[in-house]
Amino acid sequence: MSYNTSSVEKELEIINIPDLEREFEKSMAAAAHEKEADFIVGGAGAEHTLHHNISDFDNWEIVPSVIHGLDESKGNTTSEILGIKLKTPIIVSPSAAHGLVHSSAESGTLKGTFNAGSLMTISTFSNQLLKTIHGSTPAAPWFYQFSFDQNQHLNDFLLNEAVQQGAKAIVVGVFGASFGRRERDIRNHFDFDPDLPFRQLAAFPEYPTGLDILKVNNRKRDINPDEIAKIKKQTGLPVLIKGIQSGEDAIRAIENGADGIWISNTGGRQLDGIRSTIKALPEIAEAVNKRVPIIFDSGIRRGQQVFKALALGADLVAIGRAPLYGLHFGGSKGVTSVLEQLRTELLNTMLLAGVTNIKKLKNNTRLEYAYPGI
Ligand SMILES: Cc1cc2nc3c(=O)[nH]c(=O)nc-3n(C[C@H](O)[C@H](O)[C@H](O)COP(=O)(O)O)c2cc1C
Repeated sequence: MSYNTSSVEKELEIINIPDLEREFEKSMAAAAHEKEADFIVGGAGAEHTLHHNISDFDNWEIVPSVIHGLDESKGNTTSEILGIKLKTPIIVSPSAAHGLVHSSAESGTLKGTFNAGSLMTISTFSNQLLKTIHGSTPAAPWFYQFSFDQNQHLNDFLLNEAVQQGAKAIVVGVFGASFGRRERDIRNHFDFDPDLPFRQLAAFPEYPTGLDILKVNNRKRDINPDEIAKIKKQTGLPVLIKGIQSGEDAIRAIENGADGIWISNTGGRQLDGIRSTIKALPEIAEAVNKRVPIIFDSGIRRGQQVFKALALGADLVAIGRAPLYGLHFGGSKGVTSVLEQLRTELLNTMLLAGVTNIKKLKNNTRLEYAYPGI
């Protein structure tokens, strides 16, 4: 029997993303996909970091400024990364296996992201070939998230394909030297459905057939610093390092040629018990000191959180789980709805706080730590 999932295409009426997450879990359960929902929604260990990624935003409070003669028509959220103009500072993080939630898979996400004036990073673990995804919306800009393997031929194959298909940058994922222990997945004996292979990996001509692709893929997740320059040379593309969580690692990445820093703890899916990314952001922003752009992810569920991340030094934020919820309920249109929802919430926060554009937000916003002295 083939994997049965949603194929609905429609715009969504969203109150907020946490509500959508609850609806997503219910809808997946109704289709007998509880295990797949757990894989997406869950995190590592006791899920301490997963929750703190979200709740630590509340440690920061916005100090509004309200005497500027502003009106609503003046607000705009245009942004930019590596020369690519965007309507919004909110982009889509790489995530595996979009076919778990909707039949259009990564093609639906790319289209919906493009229609929201945003940009998607495609995961190494996509259910569709890069050629298929790119071909579905040829005008859409996208980055490629690359996971190092110990097989250099596989690395060359994946990087060449990303270049061939027109990736605008390579995002190297550095997640630590092992897999996160996701207890929900262990309890559920979760495995990917054979109907949903990671097609870009499976297209590698030397790939052993009939084996579990995650297990034979000998990933190296903790890279050597000199590999950054090698990928830049090999691809001729900018290289961003995703998974940075400290000022020291940001400096090491930049000194070794990184063109951008992507702060992430993979949404609490790798090591539990580490600090939230919003807590790490001020230290990293100081270390980066505007030398390269900073993308921030893990924990974004609301526009006011986007506002806080930008005010604390991020240039863009990225969302991992939220677009999958949109994809599930409305295909490409649902992805656009999720991105628009967060952009609308951000704009509302900006206008109420007294700033009309992203530059002013980043330069003129006052945030206070709620527990000074701790
Ligand atoms: C289901 C799922 C699969 C993911 N797969 C990948 C992946 O293949 N590569 C990667 O770099 N990050 C992956 N991530 C992490 C995301 O890129 C991102 O860092 C994280 O989801 C951000 O947190 P948020 O979900 O709170 O927005 C995945 C996340 C989820 C939820």
